[in-house]
Amino acid sequence: MNLVVAGTGYVGLVTGICLAYKGNNVACIDIDEDKINCLQKGMIPIYEPGLEEIFMNTRIKGKLNFSTDYVNAYKNADAIFIGVGTPEKHDGSANLKYVYEVCDKIADTVEKDCLIIVKSTVPIGTNDKIEKYILKNLKHKVNIEVASNPEFLSQGTAVKDTINAKRIVFGVKSSRAEMILREIYRKFDLPIVVTDLKSAEMIKYASNDFLALKISFINEIANLCELVGANIEDVAKGMGYDTRIGGKFLKAGVGYGGSCFPKDTKALHWLACDNGYEIKTIKAAIEVNELQRYKLLKLARERFSTLNNIEISVLGATFKPNTDDLRESPAVDNIKKLLLCNAKISVYDPVGGENLKKVFKDDINIASSIDECIKNSELVFIFTEWDEIKNYNIDNYIKYMRTPIIFDGRNCYDLKILKDKRLEYYSIGRQPVINL
Ligand code: UGA
Repeated sequence: MNLVVAGTGYVGLVTGICLAYKGNNVACIDIDEDKINCLQKGMIPIYEPGLEEIFMNTRIKGKLNFSTDYVNAYKNADAIFIGVGTPEKHDGSANLKYVYEVCDKIADTVEKDCLIIVKSTVPIGTNDKIEKYILKNLKHKVNIEVASNPEFLSQGTAVKDTINAKRIVFGVKSSRAEMILREIYRKFDLPIVVTDLKSAEMIKYASNDFLALKISFINEIANLCELVGANIEDVAKGMGYDTRIGGKFLKAGVGYGGSCFPKDTKALHWLACDNGYEIKTIKAAIEVNELQRYKLLKLARERFSTLNNIEISVLGATFKPNTDDLRESPAVDNIKKLLLCNAKISVYDPVGGENLKKVFKDDINIASSIDECIKNSELVFIFTEWDEIKNYNIDNYIKYMRTPIIFDGRNCYDLKILKDKRLEYYSIGRQPVINL
């Protein structure tokens, strides 16, 4: 079978490489020439642990190629995956512009029967609309059908999440579509859930939004822990042993970021409103997340009478560890607000430096190590729990900073270790350590 993946962003690229790794012939298509040139030369334009290894392995076997020539690729395809972005519009709804651009190209070029498989996260009902749209605009007399195959990969663990996924979802209208999808995934040996199109689309939103809700819930419990003197780490541990609750996604912090949860919560909220319904739990999750994001900044403003001219270090800038992605990162939003306060900011992130430079140009200093970043600073914010930050020697804060005051948005350090240190330490859902 000739498979084509449209879009070489996170979803498209990881999907294409993993499908080829599992023995399929895959052509990855993108309109971005630089990206395709880079991939053709064997370089991966994103930071994703493990991806390069299977990319090399697959290239050697000749199962994978990259091109901007969509005409040739779509013409001969048995199945085309759509893996382009669906960013957020100003009103919170999903922008389907890129999906429809691919649909136009598919309608213009397919010359044989073809299954169009939508990987992009799209609002419920979109797959039906896409099918009608392509059928209406088809240039050649062929049979096409649309199927939904949402992805559940997380950045930083994308390869593992795809190859060892918890489940694969097929939203289909016919047994033929199901058969083709089963053939594509034949070597994955994973649980498969087969549904209609709309249920598959809803599984994706409901899964992401449930996880976002879980994070917002634990963050609110954390806020209450601070007020009543409990410890959120112990509370989450005690809850997580109950398999009905589960220990994952109970990590309190400065809220969720990234290209998915913020967008997908707003999109579901918007979709509900559009259907005359208010989805109260998700609305609350969105509000809680917004407040949580600036929680430490608010605390710092109370601690210091002014942040004007204060030397501030920021450790961790990506929306989570093991990615270079800054999208919807709590760090970026906080840095923007700190700049408005006229603070002098130095930032260290193990891999996000280049992307930070693009966002902030010369407005901030980008340090090349934690030591360099915190030297002489008056306060530190931690926004991402990189291992390097978690394993950093606490005594160095005392050694290098002018005043060792730490606002830790990811609970990187054990309170027991900090309790006798000469510093001030504020974290989430735990009592502060004030020894200065
Ligand atoms: C998320 C989902 O986890 C994937 O299953 C889904 O496929 C993906 O969105 C998508 O729709 O493409 P991702 O955004 O890569 O994946 O990252 P997560 O690991 O889910 O983290 C999202 C945010 O939640 C991060 O900012 C992280 O710091 C935060 N988080 C996560 C917490 O604050 N606490 C936790 O316990 C877990």
